[in-house]
Amino acid sequence: MTGPGAGDALFDNDDLAAASHRPEQYADEQRSDPAGTVDPAAVDPALTDPAAVAEAVAPVRSIAAEVGAVLLRTEDLTVRFGGLTALDHVGFEIRRGEILGLIGPNGAGKTTCFNAITGVYRPSAGAVYFDGAVLGKTKRNQITRLGIARTFQNIRLFGEMTALENVVVGTDARHKTSVPGAIFRTARHRREERDAVERGMALLEFVGIAPRAMEKARNLSYGDQRRLEIARALATEPKLLCLDEPAAGFNPSEKSALMDLIRKIRDDGFTVLLIEHDMRLVMGVTDRIVVLEFGRKIADDLPAAIRADPAVIAAYLGVPDDQVAGAEEGRP
Ligand SMILES: Nc1ncnc2c1ncn2[C@@H]1O[C@H](COP(=O)(O)OP(=O)(O)O)[C@@H](O)[C@H]1O
Ligand SMILES: [Mg+2]
Repeated sequence: MTGPGAGDALFDNDDLAAASHRPEQYADEQRSDPAGTVDPAAVDPALTDPAAVAEAVAPVRSIAAEVGAVLLRTEDLTVRFGGLTALDHVGFEIRRGEILGLIGPNGAGKTTCFNAITGVYRPSAGAVYFDGAVLGKTKRNQITRLGIARTFQNIRLFGEMTALENVVVGTDARHKTSVPGAIFRTARHRREERDAVERGMALLEFVGIAPRAMEKARNLSYGDQRRLEIARALATEPKLLCLDEPAAGFNPSEKSALMDLIRKIRDDGFTVLLIEHDMRLVMGVTDRIVVLEFGRKIADDLPAAIRADPAVIAAYLGVPDDQVAGAEEGRP
């Protein structure tokens, strides 16, 4: 299976989601072109059975924590950029099996928090505890192996690789075969490769894009690329899946379909940390919500309580709750 070779530039649309509208190059014209689509049932009849697909996708990794036990905890987590404190002594917990929302206005520190958790930034102060260990000096790839996967606010895929290959790259992180095993194509290596492809197809079916398995990632519609990113993150069998504004640039019906997918992911046994800018959107899908404003945690409660919290309402410009999402979208 092709790896992320030197010739394949990382497809990183820097200002993609930053502009909170769908960029023009992501017009969904591919939807109307049936050429190149895959019939998942022809690949594997089991892919027509949602229960079998969910079973194939479900995390098999043994986990120390019980459902409801603390999986991740930040303690006084602080990140400074020069004179700017992007994250200011933030402490919160994620329990296993939970969908935790991390919300707040633009610039509140949500992405910085993800970056500190996933090892992109070393905290200026404070600590992150995950599954019983402190992540202090843990490197990014080690953090992935420990079981934290993420998607990016700005889509990052291998554009020249197919959707399936992008997902299989994710499962590669879990392979046990040594390099000689790969060179001599031992039975174990062949089995792992076949398993990775089967699980990759199941993951694509799970997120709803199996018919596009053989399409290059860069040719997928914007919405399908967002789904592919989620499938690739799930391929690493994470204990914790971190999604950074996965619905950015989506219209309301796409957003609600994505929330259904996030619920399905949790129901399949994953724990989810969801960054979302649109407050109304997270209300329906999260179990609990942490609110950041100017790098500080201003609330941490059940969605119904967050909705009524004066400090949260003030952070969102004091607009009445039913107008929050619309007001956010209208912001520059
Ligand atoms: N790499 C960086 N260097 C300098 N400042 C940064 C960097 N990343 C984020 N910031 C700043 O930190 C603050 C929080 O940003 P961010 O975490 O991206 O917010 P959010 O995701 O909530 O919109 C902002 O003021 C932003 O400009
Ligand atoms: Mg952000």
